[in-house]
Amino acid sequence: MKTLLRIDGSPRKETSISRQLATTLQEHLQREGDIVLHRDVYYDDLVQLGNQDQVDAFFTPENQQTEAQKAAVYNSNVLAQEFANADTYIITSPMYNFSVTAGLKTYIDSISRAGISFQYTENGPIGLLKDKKAYVIITTGGTKLKSPVDHVTTYLTTFLNFLGITDITFIPADEVVANQDLAISNAKELISTF
Ligand SMILES: Cc1cc2nc3c(=O)[nH]c(=O)nc-3n(C[C@H](O)[C@H](O)[C@H](O)COP(=O)(O)O)c2cc1C
Repeated sequence: MKTLLRIDGSPRKETSISRQLATTLQEHLQREGDIVLHRDVYYDDLVQLGNQDQVDAFFTPENQQTEAQKAAVYNSNVLAQEFANADTYIITSPMYNFSVTAGLKTYIDSISRAGISFQYTENGPIGLLKDKKAYVIITTGGTKLKSPVDHVTTYLTTFLNFLGITDITFIPADEVVANQDLAISNAKELISTF
């Protein structure tokens, strides 16, 4: 039994290619008894841009936080703890202007938390998340993944590694403008091999 956390990074719903692939992957990975959680970063009230109280709370021990700081950091606490507790992640990441979408970045800024997902040490920060598995579905219109301007693959690898997550499988569905059906069928074929 595992906890599977799906994080959708596209603002599109029915027309989203990454969501379609995530549903296929989820059906493929899910086993009886698994707990499945879903964060839809553009439509989830818990995913919010930070403010000063929230950032100050990040650097203030809980027992010294003001009431305003406690309130501002509450959503981030919930999201970060949920992320830390999951075993397997399905992350969908459309490429927007060569990087991740603003919604996914906002979610990332919420879950990257000292004391929950990483820890400062004398030798620099270390990730606290161990024995996790991440599947990352990346969609692009015209940009080739792994090309020099693909800042999605490199960024998400760096970020997940920073938290301690090193077992990452990327599922590309790139250059969908050229041949959307082919990109989707190639990605589904890859998923069927897991
Ligand atoms: C605001 C915006 C920016 C985009 N930027 C890029 C880009 O830099 N490179 C690219 O190849 N495709 C870009 N695209 C195309 C999307 O990556 C493509 O439509 C993809 O299928 C989106 O994922 P989804 O179908 O899950 O919503 C962009 C689309 C939008 C709406």
